[in-house]
Amino acid sequence: TTVGIHDLSFATTEFVLPHTALAEYNGTEIGKYHVGIGQQSMSVPAADEDIVTLGAAAAAPIVARHGADGIRTLVFATESSIDQAKAAGVYVHSLLGLPSATRVVELKQACYGATAALQFAIGLIHRDPSQKVLVVASDVSKYELDSPGEATQGAAAVAMLVSADPALVRIEDPSGLFTADVMDFWRPNYRDAALVDGQESIGAYLQAVQGTWKDYSEQGGRPLEAFSAFCYHQPFTKMAYKAHRHLLNSAGHDTDETAVKQALGLTTAYNAVIGNSYTASVYLGLAALLDQAEDLTGQPVGFLSYGSGSVAEFFAGTVVPGYREHLRTAEHRTAIERRQAIGYDRYRALHERTLPTDGSDHATPAETTGPFRLAGISGHKRLYEKR
Ligand code: CAA
Repeated sequence: TTVGIHDLSFATTEFVLPHTALAEYNGTEIGKYHVGIGQQSMSVPAADEDIVTLGAAAAAPIVARHGADGIRTLVFATESSIDQAKAAGVYVHSLLGLPSATRVVELKQACYGATAALQFAIGLIHRDPSQKVLVVASDVSKYELDSPGEATQGAAAVAMLVSADPALVRIEDPSGLFTADVMDFWRPNYRDAALVDGQESIGAYLQAVQGTWKDYSEQGGRPLEAFSAFCYHQPFTKMAYKAHRHLLNSAGHDTDETAVKQALGLTTAYNAVIGNSYTASVYLGLAALLDQAEDLTGQPVGFLSYGSGSVAEFFAGTVVPGYREHLRTAEHRTAIERRQAIGYDRYRALHERTLPTDGSDHATPAETTGPFRLAGISGHKRLYEKR
């Protein structure tokens, strides 16, 4: 049985903050953002958007196209969780009207969670190839205002239907694995903005790239030159370039910049304008690659998924003949272009807003034009609705 990604759809927020606005506010030379970290703008959630509304918006077109038949598992991957106990995927299950005969769970390991979800989905489908798994990766990346991390925020959700005989990408064995206990990025339960040691996190990511590749090679994976493109986790797009150069160097290859650009260039288009979407980021890279490449039929693509803390995995996927008929290129472009640009003050107010923590009632302002919204909170319960 071949198993992999049968359909892929993403959603992002109502608002977008151009990096020019941030640079103007904090006096940063714009080249640092546009060239130094490789970011143009970042998605900003409206007051009535969160990981649930984004996740449901990403997954709804998949359910509309394929129906819910055969989906017996929904795995929701996030590191910006809204509840310590209840899986955000249960709200998504409800908003999408999925059958009660479904298994729903949330997975967490920083930005790596969606890859764990994909691998677990593959295992379930090998057990029963008639089943499908809906993987939803949804995150709001939030750092402290006026911190170095601020320029690397963003938000998006990717939904993937994982099945036997997939229409887009077959996921291959083996995987290269790497875990190391490092404190490069974390978010204690009492905080809603992440804590990060920026330089430490870049070093930890590079160490993980080397570690996963070593294991991937030892497990009998493909040689480096077999891959036509590489999708990296992209906290900012420049990081993919740092990572790939490090991989080439550590595997004893030259870093020919034309070849590096050729291997990564198409994968950064969505991330450069959306910003960090944590668990969704590596799969936004895949979406950008598939949507823009002329023809990848039969080509192996390398995936490097990194989650701070840290866990990483390198694996390969092969693009399936006929994949282009199943892409959502126009919808993806619309998701990016429909965002309303906001100024620095509006962004700052949205960043600083809080929901009541005392059980009181709160109605969120109607801002999103997306399909689902967080209507409010009452008695400590989040209330969602279709628009
Ligand atoms: N023109 C062009 N380039 C410029 C420039 C200018 N005017 N000014 C500066 N630059 C370049 C710098 O030379 C540097 O490039 P190199 O890294 O290639 O040397 C780049 O712009 C960034 O400059 P700094 O290193 O001085 O930036 P900083 O210290 O303010 O912060 C950051 C950068 C560490 C990425 C910070 O944004 C941050 O902490 N972000 C959050 C953490 C993060 O994203 N870590 C990534 C790995 S961890 C991970 O992947 C998991 C995750 O999702 C969080």
